[in-house]
Amino acid sequence: MKQVNLGPNEVGAASVILGCMRITEAADPVKVIDTAMANGINFFDHADIYGGGKCEEIFAKAFKETGYHRDEIFLQSKCGIVPGVMFDFSKEHIISSVEGILKRLNVEYLDSLLLHRPDTLMEPEEVAAAFDQLESDGKVRYFGVSNQYSRQIQLLQKYVRQPLIINQLQFGVMHTGMVDFGLHVNMTDEASFDHDDGILEFSRLNDMTIQAWSPYQYGFFEGVFIGNEKFPELNLKLSEMAEKYGTTPTGIASAWILRHPANMQVIAGTMTPSRIEEIAKASDIQLSREDWYSIYLAAGNILP
Ligand SMILES: NC(=O)c1ccc[n+]([C@@H]2O[C@H](COP(=O)([O-])OP(=O)(O)OC[C@H]3O[C@@H](n4cnc5c(N)ncnc54)[C@H](OP(=O)(O)O)[C@@H]3O)[C@@H](O)[C@H]2O)c1
Repeated sequence: MKQVNLGPNEVGAASVILGCMRITEAADPVKVIDTAMANGINFFDHADIYGGGKCEEIFAKAFKETGYHRDEIFLQSKCGIVPGVMFDFSKEHIISSVEGILKRLNVEYLDSLLLHRPDTLMEPEEVAAAFDQLESDGKVRYFGVSNQYSRQIQLLQKYVRQPLIINQLQFGVMHTGMVDFGLHVNMTDEASFDHDDGILEFSRLNDMTIQAWSPYQYGFFEGVFIGNEKFPELNLKLSEMAEKYGTTPTGIASAWILRHPANMQVIAGTMTPSRIEEIAKASDIQLSREDWYSIYLAAGNILP
């Protein structure tokens, strides 16, 4: 399993994360966690809203059954969304959300806490106070954000003492905005629009790790592009590359993200043990520059 370093203190972590948004009792969670651990994926991503809190509970119960210990894993969760109602970065909400997360996960501390989506009513002093309290109480070790652009992070970091070391963003072969714009500088075509305030380069400059969510999806949860007849050219290319590198199309789609020198992590949401295994194994594949670009082009992108 390829490792990455998180933040300025270079905290070592697996490059593949198991996302627990889709964990259910029906999916044999014990086998899912066992397979992940056996293949070097010891990093698990949660959010207080996944399954309305159920996902964290299901994970906790299954994790106990596996017999692994708390200190063998990196446990991350997110807060700040009140679904359909508002975003809430108030001190009170952050603290009470973490209390709930720890209770449902049945642990004393989180390795990392991310603020899930930006709250335009954020008062950064409140976030700073919440983070200080959570850190001094030993409830959260590291902090980060999700779906935030560069200046939002700068604003928050001006007040927060702890380095913000993670930004979770949608990224994958079929969701490449942060790359497109960097390739189309000084152009006026669609790809030249910067939707994310230079977030890729900002992350690299500030030692923030991008965690790529929904890496095998196209659109906003529209479906999986792998094996999807809507994308014949891309799938042909993924199959050709899978044969060349001795993996599967899913493995290539993961290796494509990890090939970027920004040293991202892939958050895989599959609950299928064989897929977990193929994604974990593919983390060690190093695509050539030419192959990386050929996949980018096969996804329908153009180079200026
Ligand atoms: N920060 C955020 O705003 C945010 C938003 C969304 C997600 N996330 C995080 O990202 C994680 C991953 O998200 P996701 O589940 O949408 O991403 P994903 O890994 O792209 O999608 C996984 C889904 O695709 C299915 N799938 C079908 N064919 C597949 C194939 N060949 N390879 C891989 N998967 C295939 C899986 O089904 P099977 O289970 O049947 O294999 C599963 O339902 C979440 O669990 C969550 O932790 C974060």
